[in-house]
Amino acid sequence: MLRLSSLNIGWQRWRTHFILTLLTISACFIIHLYTPYADWVYVLTLGCGYLSLSFIVFSLLIGPYKLLHQRRNPVNLDLRRDVGIWAGITGCVHVVCAIAERTRGNIIDLFLRPKTGGAGYDLLLTPGGISNNLGLVATVILVLLLVISNDFSLRRFKGKRWKFLQRFNYLLALLVFIHTVLYQQFSHRERSFILLTIILAVVLLLAQFVGVWLYKTQYAHKHAYPQSQHKH
Ligand code: HEM
Repeated sequence: MLRLSSLNIGWQRWRTHFILTLLTISACFIIHLYTPYADWVYVLTLGCGYLSLSFIVFSLLIGPYKLLHQRRNPVNLDLRRDVGIWAGITGCVHVVCAIAERTRGNIIDLFLRPKTGGAGYDLLLTPGGISNNLGLVATVILVLLLVISNDFSLRRFKGKRWKFLQRFNYLLALLVFIHTVLYQQFSHRERSFILLTIILAVVLLLAQFVGVWLYKTQYAHKHAYPQSQHKH
């Protein structure tokens, strides 16, 4: 029988996963209310797309928050890791459903177009093609980050290298924002979705700005008063 303790994650983390599950179900239900006649593949495409974007942003807010309130930002934080795991899961569900929804078996058409008059393919450079290709790069990063979100990878890559890989989160956020805005433009998405995207982008930019500023002032303080580090 599977024992909870054998999975080696405490109640705090189970509670986080429970809340994130409820959030995911609620968001998909809201999308169902928004588009009641759509099939579940479309509901999951849209719901999980926006959830993944929100989870990516939320995970990037935790570092600046910790710096602001606790004056430190540890390499590994359970909450950041768990939110990242859900960003990965919902992102993958979005990709699978988006591909199922948009293609009738020929996935390549989403990303490439046949060369005129010859064999081989070119990159699809229509707005949809650019958006899909950016989404594809984002998916590779998302899966990479999902794969290293565990104790084994943390031990294997050690703190610094693991932190380096985690920084791909910023590139991921940028790619997903562009992908989302492009789709919003040619899907003529309602204002509420556009507003949500703008709020997420502004909050993320402000938090990163505050985070960098706090990091720099702490770094300057550490070098000006190296002794003070040993007194705490
Ligand atoms: C190969 C990778 C990807 C493909 C092919 C893809 C495809 C699509 C498609 C077809 C749509 C439009 C859905 C519709 O309105 O019918 C869409 C929208 C969206 N995607 Fe992706 N996606 C990919 C990766 C991602 C990733 C990794 C994320 C987030 C982490 C993401 C977030 C979103 C969001 C938020 C929307 C909603 C934009 C709107 O309102 O139309 N996508 N994607």
